[in-house]
Amino acid sequence: MTSPTPAAPQARDWWRRAVVYQVYPRSFADADGDGLGDLRGITSRVGHLAALGVDAVWLSPFYPSALADGGYDVDDHRAVDPRLGTLEDFDAMVRALHAAGIRVVVDIVPNHTSDRHAWFREALASPPGSRARGRYVFRDGRGPGGDEPPSSWRSIFGGSAWQRVVEADGTPGQWYLHIFAPEQPDLDWSDEEVREDMLETLRFWADRGVDGFRVDVAHGLVKDVDGHLDVHVEILDTGVEGGNHPLWDRDEVQEVYAQWRRDVLDAYDPPRSAVAEASVHPDRRARYADPLGLGQAFNFDLFACGWDAGEMRRAIDGGLAQMAAGSSATWTLSNHDSVRHTTRFGVPPREGVGSQEAAKAWVTSDGRDPVDLDLGLRRARAALLLELALPGAVYLYQGEELGLHEVADIPWDAVEDPIAVRSGGEEKGRDGCRVALPWTQDGPTFGFGPEDGALPGMRQPAWFGVVSAAAQDGVPGSTLELYRAALRRRRELTTDDDALTWVDDAPDVLHLERPGGWRSVTNLSEVDVALPAGELLLASDAAPDASDVAQGRGVLAPGTSVWMR
Ligand code: GLC
Repeated sequence: MTSPTPAAPQARDWWRRAVVYQVYPRSFADADGDGLGDLRGITSRVGHLAALGVDAVWLSPFYPSALADGGYDVDDHRAVDPRLGTLEDFDAMVRALHAAGIRVVVDIVPNHTSDRHAWFREALASPPGSRARGRYVFRDGRGPGGDEPPSSWRSIFGGSAWQRVVEADGTPGQWYLHIFAPEQPDLDWSDEEVREDMLETLRFWADRGVDGFRVDVAHGLVKDVDGHLDVHVEILDTGVEGGNHPLWDRDEVQEVYAQWRRDVLDAYDPPRSAVAEASVHPDRRARYADPLGLGQAFNFDLFACGWDAGEMRRAIDGGLAQMAAGSSATWTLSNHDSVRHTTRFGVPPREGVGSQEAAKAWVTSDGRDPVDLDLGLRRARAALLLELALPGAVYLYQGEELGLHEVADIPWDAVEDPIAVRSGGEEKGRDGCRVALPWTQDGPTFGFGPEDGALPGMRQPAWFGVVSAAAQDGVPGSTLELYRAALRRRRELTTDDDALTWVDDAPDVLHLERPGGWRSVTNLSEVDVALPAGELLLASDAAPDASDVAQGRGVLAPGTSVWMR
């Protein structure tokens, strides 16, 4: 028997400097051949994760769900979607990952349930004002017959944030709040039962050996609805200075997390970790990373940067300043909500538009707008070395180790993301980074599922074969081998000293030194730059000649990073 949690020297703090790999279970690997990734599929690929050298995996939701929002519409938080497996499969997966020294983080979605959740069905069958409706945010409509929504608020995914229900007697009834899709009714976090139930959910997974939690929309949950029904509320303003938006980042939400910390996370040995997905003003991030609260928070500042030395330097300096002021340091370039950065770095910048927005527009053009995919990949490989050289934790997204590009030409009638529908086609959405992974060069699903299995709903493009894991395994210079080498080196080089010193020796070059005398140099300029003399450890692309570098004659090409000592 393996122990449920691997013992490690810094078992309490493993997450601080971890490399965490995000698995989107429905598109990772399909063991049972139904065209949908599953838990046994993940177990079958533990070898890949171990060879990659990650410290933990974070699983996006695998709970029962109609997939109205890719699984973030949860029917039951304490069960496995039968299409993805069973609780026994979950336990076997955790055992296999732990045996490989990989920790397990699961996604928790506390802001809303799905509309198929037992509580919501009970609420629909119960009258206005009932206990069952009190777990959600039901309000009467305005105007004659209550035909108008209770407020003008828009949902994050487009359209009104309110949906009207039909009462049990068949008459048009109250409205419920859904900040995301209508299939995701918001919970009312002033309700004691809602709070208690989430503690049960956390204990349920912690008891099964889960090491930590990723907390979805952590800046949501607590809202001041009634104080703002008459006012226009800009729903996308999640990051206002000072927080306390009517619907986002309210001070009181920290009381929820303090209770999680006290009553659940710290009640385990070792304590369970938690990382907040909190789209808040940078100055508010430390609240979510408070050791008496969740402990760690994603920083999406680097994720928002284009290929621009100034932008990246500001994002890194901001993250380091927050770390010095008591927050956590985390870095990420891609996740299941964004255009893969491999592609994003090849999309030409647009005046007045951020890099993420420009990349989304490229996706909405079905990939017809200009892009330089080779350049994007080259920069993505360089960005990896920069990211991994920073102090703190790094979150990778499945497939980036293959250098996968975004799939932009998914036919519109196969698109699943509610954003595409609710925006009326103004945005194509996030499906292009959620296409089933290619494991082998050939076969009907490139090894995603068994040879005779069903095809995934969103078809894989023909070019997936050449970028598959099998095509890159053991191939010098492949992106997969670069990731493996970089993670291995990072482990050797990183100490528990989080210091970082910038060396400002050339414009548009990010040159930093880390304790132990190693350095990372990234050339974001358009010209070759001179490298200092030293030992070359790793290069993101064709390496400069090692003896030239040793003698101080090395040059670094544009769009390239090196690690040296
Ligand atoms: C988070 C998830 C995203 C989801 C949303 C609603 O932002 O990352 O995928 O759509 O929450 O749950």
